[in-house]
Amino acid sequence: MSEPVQTPLTAQNAAFKPRIFSGIQPSGGLTLGNYLGALKRFVEKQDEGIETIYCLVDMHAITVWQDPAKLRHATREGAAGFIAAGIDPARSVLFNQSQVTAHVELAWIFNCVARMGWMSRMTQFKDKAGKNSENVSLGLFAYPALMAADILAYHATMVPVGEDQKQHLELTRDIAIKFNNDYGVNYFPVVDPLIEGAATRVMSLRDGTKKMSKSDPSDQSRINLTDDADMIASKIRKAKTDSEPLPDSADGLKDRPEARNLVNIYAALANQSVEQVMAEYAGAQFGTFKPALADLAVSKLGPITTEMNRLMKDPAEIDRILGEGADRAEAIARPIVDKVYDITGMIRSRR
Ligand code: TYM
Repeated sequence: MSEPVQTPLTAQNAAFKPRIFSGIQPSGGLTLGNYLGALKRFVEKQDEGIETIYCLVDMHAITVWQDPAKLRHATREGAAGFIAAGIDPARSVLFNQSQVTAHVELAWIFNCVARMGWMSRMTQFKDKAGKNSENVSLGLFAYPALMAADILAYHATMVPVGEDQKQHLELTRDIAIKFNNDYGVNYFPVVDPLIEGAATRVMSLRDGTKKMSKSDPSDQSRINLTDDADMIASKIRKAKTDSEPLPDSADGLKDRPEARNLVNIYAALANQSVEQVMAEYAGAQFGTFKPALADLAVSKLGPITTEMNRLMKDPAEIDRILGEGADRAEAIARPIVDKVYDITGMIRSRR
C-alpha cells in the first residue's frame, strides 16, 4: 500500500479528547509571521480553555546546521517569546522537544510507516533542498515524520499553524491512517489543522510573493520580535508597496500582493477583519496607512519585546520552566508511545 489514503475528517476522532499541540523551530529569532500565524493563535487557544501543549522543536532545527551556542540561545529566546506573548506555563505545557525522547522514538516508527513517495512530494523539502537535494541531511527528508510524531505522541486532535504547514499536517493524517490500517487499530487520531485568522501567510516586506521568513538573508524583509520600536517603524516605512491608494474592498487587493500583505497584518494585529480595515482606510495613501500600521505594530509588539528581554536576563529560570514542561509532556507521551511498542510487536521485558 503505497498511496496515501485520504478519508474525510472523522468519526474516529470521537474517541480522543480535544487536545492541541504545536511547535516552532528555534532556528533563529521569532518573526511577525510566527507571531501572527502561530503564537498569537496559541495564546487564544490556551485562553479558550482547551488543553494546550507547545514545543520548541530543537530536533527539527538541526536538520540544517545550527551553531550549538546559537541554538541554545534561540531555544531560550523562543521560550521567552512564548511566555511574553501570553503563554502561561502553568496552563499550557511548554518545553523543548529534545527533553522528551518519546518524539524521536515515535518518529523512527513513523519513518517505517511513511512512504518515500509521500516524503518526496513535500514542497517544503523541495524548497529547502533546492538543486542541492543530494547534499542535504537525511533528517531534512524525514522531517515531516518527526513532526507527525510530535503531534501524535500526545494524541493531539488539533494543530494551530500557518498556511505553510498545511501539507505537513496532511502527511500527519496519512501517517495516522496508515498506521491504524496496517495494525488494525484505531490508535491515532486524524488531526485537524487550525489555519485561521487574517494572517495565515505573512509575506516578506520586500516581496509580497515570498513568505516572511527567519531564513531570508534580508533583515529588512521581516519584523523580528526582538526589533525595537524605531526598527519596526523604519521597516514598515520602507516596505515595498505600489503607488495606488487602498481600495474600498478586499476584492481590490487581489492583484496587489504587497498592499494585501500590509492590510492583512493590520487586520491581524488589530483583531479586525480585512473588511473592517478596508472600511476605515478606503482611498487612503500608503503615506497615511503605513504610519498607522507602524503605530499599531509598535503598540502590540513593544510590550512583548520588553517582556522577552526581561525574561532573557534569567536563563536559569527559563530552563527550569522548560524542564518542568518536559516532565508534564513526558507524563502524557510516555504511555502513548509505550503502547505503540506493544502494537508493533516489540518485546519490552526490562524491569
Ligand atoms: P516554523 O518554525 O517554520 O514556524 C512556526 C509557526 O509559524 C508559522 N509561520 C508563519 N505563519 C504565517 N506567516 C508566515 N510568514 C509564517 N512563518 C512561519 C508556521 O506556519 C508555524 O505554524 N514544521 C514546523 C514546526 C513543527 C510543528 C510540529 C508545528 C515541528 N513539529 C508539530 C506544528 C506541530 C515549522 O517549521 O514551523
